[in-house]
Amino acid sequence: MTPLLVAIPGNEKLTEDLAATLCCDVGGLEIHAFPDGETYLRFITSPANRPVVLVCTLSHPNEKMLPLLFSSATARELGASRVGLVAPYLAYMRQDRRFKPGEAVTSRQVARLLSDAFDWLVTVDPHLHRYSSLADIYSIPTHVVHAAPLIAHWIKANVTNPLIIGPDSESEQWVAAVASDVGAPYSVLEKVRHGDRDVEIRLKDLEQWKGRTPVLVDDIISTGRTMIEAVRLLSSQGWPSPVCVAVHGLFADNADSLLARLGARVVTTNSVPHKTNAIDIGKTLAAYIATQAGPR
Ligand code: R5P
Repeated sequence: MTPLLVAIPGNEKLTEDLAATLCCDVGGLEIHAFPDGETYLRFITSPANRPVVLVCTLSHPNEKMLPLLFSSATARELGASRVGLVAPYLAYMRQDRRFKPGEAVTSRQVARLLSDAFDWLVTVDPHLHRYSSLADIYSIPTHVVHAAPLIAHWIKANVTNPLIIGPDSESEQWVAAVASDVGAPYSVLEKVRHGDRDVEIRLKDLEQWKGRTPVLVDDIISTGRTMIEAVRLLSSQGWPSPVCVAVHGLFADNADSLLARLGARVVTTNSVPHKTNAIDIGKTLAAYIATQAGPR
């Protein structure tokens, strides 16, 4: 039986693209918020006796988690043979330890909720910093799609003579992989985060690469503070306007407009739908879904 792809609202475009690549059906799901905020949910297409794949990127995760968990539970109650999750952006991965006594390690708690609800999960470059892999916290089969080759392909096609720059040591994994694929040099800046919206960046000596176009590469743009500070510093040292590339563009606080105002070109993958999407991760996700969504 071919899988039934079902979009949690907001994920329709990627779901249609995946269905076209996989030659499978898109199922109807009606989700409605009652006036008091509770969720009404109904499968329009029967998921009985077939594998179901729910597509839900987890930007703004709090408002999506309950409808997602209800959808999975309902698909199972209605007889789905398996229920998988395509979550191109996997939320809550940054709280990966108890930084202060009493804090919630929400990455583990979200992993437990999703592991209980789904048979498998595929995502794009989750923020793995203190965990070595998703298997550290997820108890279901998980698969990570890497955007680095796709980002490198975009840079090669669109930027002449690039210098790849990571804004902090955490970004070095992307930056090194992207630079190697592009065949360009790279450098990683030093970042100290003082608060959600308070980031300090120190430039290293980049003089030897003057004349190249700076391309800042990071996994996430959230408030944009990291990218904004890096763009400001580069500009203060006479570099041309950089290209800012992120796997996941969350753009809290109108970060995209702030970066545009500084003259930066912002490019993201379509892991989170946004007007900056220029790099498609759909085909790579589809290749994995095809291996998982068949009957057990
Ligand atoms: C850090 O842990 C991540 O790799 C990103 O650098 C960070 O999430 C960016 O956040 P913001 O856009 O809020 O500075």
